[in-house]
Amino acid sequence: MAISPPRTSTLAQRGPKRETLLKAIQMFQRSILATAAVLAFTATTAHAGEVEVLHYWTSGGEAKSAAALKATLQGKGHTWKDFAVAGGGGDNAMTVLKSRVVSGNAPAAAQIKGPALQEWAAEGVLANIDDVAKAEKWDSLLPPVVANVMKYKGNYIAAPVNVHRVNWLWASNAAFKKAGAKVPTNWDEFFVAAEALKKAGIIPVAHGGQNWQDFTTFESVALGVGGADFYKKALVQLDQTALTGATMTKVLDTFKKVKTYTDKNAPGRDWNLATAMVIKGEAGMQLMGDWAKGEFVAAGKKPGTDFSCVAAPGTAKSFTFNVDSFAMFKLKNEDNVKAQKDLASAIMSNDFQEVFNLNKGSIPVRLNMNLAKFDDCAKLSSNDFVATAKNGGLVPSVAHGMAIGSATSGAIQDAVSQFWNDDKMSTKDAQAKIASAAKVK
Ligand code: GAL
Repeated sequence: MAISPPRTSTLAQRGPKRETLLKAIQMFQRSILATAAVLAFTATTAHAGEVEVLHYWTSGGEAKSAAALKATLQGKGHTWKDFAVAGGGGDNAMTVLKSRVVSGNAPAAAQIKGPALQEWAAEGVLANIDDVAKAEKWDSLLPPVVANVMKYKGNYIAAPVNVHRVNWLWASNAAFKKAGAKVPTNWDEFFVAAEALKKAGIIPVAHGGQNWQDFTTFESVALGVGGADFYKKALVQLDQTALTGATMTKVLDTFKKVKTYTDKNAPGRDWNLATAMVIKGEAGMQLMGDWAKGEFVAAGKKPGTDFSCVAAPGTAKSFTFNVDSFAMFKLKNEDNVKAQKDLASAIMSNDFQEVFNLNKGSIPVRLNMNLAKFDDCAKLSSNDFVATAKNGGLVPSVAHGMAIGSATSGAIQDAVSQFWNDDKMSTKDAQAKIASAAKVK
């Protein structure tokens, strides 16, 4: 409806009643403005909802990424209720999530990924967001390998935010310069560099002694020593012959040798504090996924100049992928459902994928994005993601919940950590433990 005020020009010309008339006109205009304001307010708030989001992004780079998601949602007029559970790798967050869902109080969205999405969907607690996905053609915007994981029985139940590469080695350029060492490309070179760093009084390997970090190191060693085919057989297909064979023995020996280059304060250390040691040049290297790059970037460090990103030793032709995603839980309140769908749609938008991943250290999961603003580490990751998808080197990260169910991976993770921590445990015993953990269902 178009509302037009009386025309002031003709009215203003009529003698004595001019002032009264002008006042009346002003009042009329004010009332129209007030009505318009009420209408605008109603339009933006009618469907405003609240989305409670469970995540575990609490480090520097992660917090910036979570803030980008919050800002995107708020930009749509909704309220963000933060449900952050500290603890790298998300083990703590998953424990808290379970108790919330069991007590009938699920958040709107939770950072859940890989096969765990299917486990949650099978419980009947996840919402179908196919209408958003169909309207926005997610099938054509995502690599099929990712789209399939986001669906349960053919319907989307989660929205992906990124692709993290796990098999990275981060190196301090200052530490390497001081030690006169060369950034390694294979395990022999790794130990040569570690010795040189040690001699220069630098902690060779920054490690955080938490189970998931031990497991992260283990999977990069397995990939580098055994290659992608071995990795798939042993850690994705859980083939007993591969798990009990000679290659796995070599993997375990190499893994345990890495530990000898870590410092005595490693037990219990958070991953981002380990990254900080490399950022400061107190340590030479860290084996960690590219969320570590988010820390370097948040600290104002530049790849190439201050630090180096190279594939973990022996893994240049492989790529362990780790896709973060948000599962959507069934909700009753209609406004909140609308807000939840707006969140799903925002997550897949071009702008969000760019700003989020620039901070997170990962690359966009949405295909065909312009990477002009991304650094060389991200460009290498993107090229290698495409190349390894063609040559068979693209493998799911077992340490980050991409490869196998949560019960089995939890059991293997515990066995791996036990071996890392117990200097009396033999490789033979550890190998047997890991092989039997792989049978846990
Ligand atoms: C990974 C997760 C990343 C990052 C990291 C450290 O499992 O996919 O997004 O948060 O843990 O917490």
